[in-house]
Amino acid sequence: MKPLPKPYYTTNHGIAYLGDSREILASGAFDGKADLIMTSPPFALRRKKQYGNVEADKYVAWFMDFARLFHSILKPQGSLVIDIGGSWNQGEPTRSLYHYELLIELCKIPGHKFYLAQEFYWYNPSKLPSPAEWVTVRRERVKDAVNCIWWFSKEPHPKADNRRVLKPYSESMKELLQRGYKPQLRPSGHDISSKFNRNHNGAIPPNLLEIANTESNSRYLRACRQAGLPPNPARYPHGLPEFFIKFLTEPGDLVLDPFAGSNVTGEVCERLGRKWIAIEMIEEYLKGSKFRFDEFCIGDWFERSGQKAFLLRESRVKYESSKSQVRKKRH
Ligand SMILES: C[S@@+](CC[C@H](N)C(=O)[O-])C[C@H]1O[C@@H](n2cnc3c(N)ncnc32)[C@H](O)[C@@H]1O
Repeated sequence: MKPLPKPYYTTNHGIAYLGDSREILASGAFDGKADLIMTSPPFALRRKKQYGNVEADKYVAWFMDFARLFHSILKPQGSLVIDIGGSWNQGEPTRSLYHYELLIELCKIPGHKFYLAQEFYWYNPSKLPSPAEWVTVRRERVKDAVNCIWWFSKEPHPKADNRRVLKPYSESMKELLQRGYKPQLRPSGHDISSKFNRNHNGAIPPNLLEIANTESNSRYLRACRQAGLPPNPARYPHGLPEFFIKFLTEPGDLVLDPFAGSNVTGEVCERLGRKWIAIEMIEEYLKGSKFRFDEFCIGDWFERSGQKAFLLRESRVKYESSKSQVRKKRH
């Protein structure tokens, strides 16, 4: 077994590592330990971003090294949940099939085969119209506002309980429960029995998750600005990992995010009492992600003569900001 690097930071429930997740996971230290891998890998994009997005035609091959490691790290009843955005083909308004190819290949890896437990779709109503050429200029396509979320498992019956993610009943359902429902045969031929009348404390959610991604002035963003650190540009909203963490794990279970970015996954786990491991290869993103945990006692905010400062206890690096400049001091 290869030795693990020193943790970049730790909290009450989690450990964050700086490095390439392929190398860290290949240590074998986490084999058979994770209940859930919840992640958003770099997508295949037409224009490369700074954090290693791979082109669509090379994407599946690139992902396979990770996939085998993910399979080994999960417990038999564990789940792998991947948030993956679609992409357009170069120079024309047609869609790449890379995320569907990935889905199919993951279900065929010899010795490390996953099942597709269910496909989900994340609808982000605040998504901007793009690519401008096809959507706002030529008007040939509509806004692409849905990401695919592939939920994979190692067995046909992974650990899952939809009672942990019930939605509030609609007003009409509440009325129906009060009034009572007479069992009858629907025009469709569907037999609605008296069981329909039972109050289950909420409705079973669909596989379409509507969550706006509108974070613009969160504590994390303010702290990054103050410290002069770039926020991760591809963050997902808390509601997304929260849904799957509640649905697929229980308190005390272990959740891994191998493409952690700003570590939204870790923050949600910390709140929900799940253990977590986050791996991110860009130091600035991991450094900024620490701010998510200031309320969990890994650092302190204080204000002194008009200057705000955040002290990260374990790294002993202090960021001070004044109106005009951001200084970094070691002490
Ligand atoms: C889409 S972002 C994740 C954003 C994250 N879900 C959040 O909400 O902040 C993907 C991240 O994966 C990281 N990454 C890419 N390849 C990696 C690797 N081999 N090991 C670790 N991190 C990697 C990138 O640096 C980037 O921050």
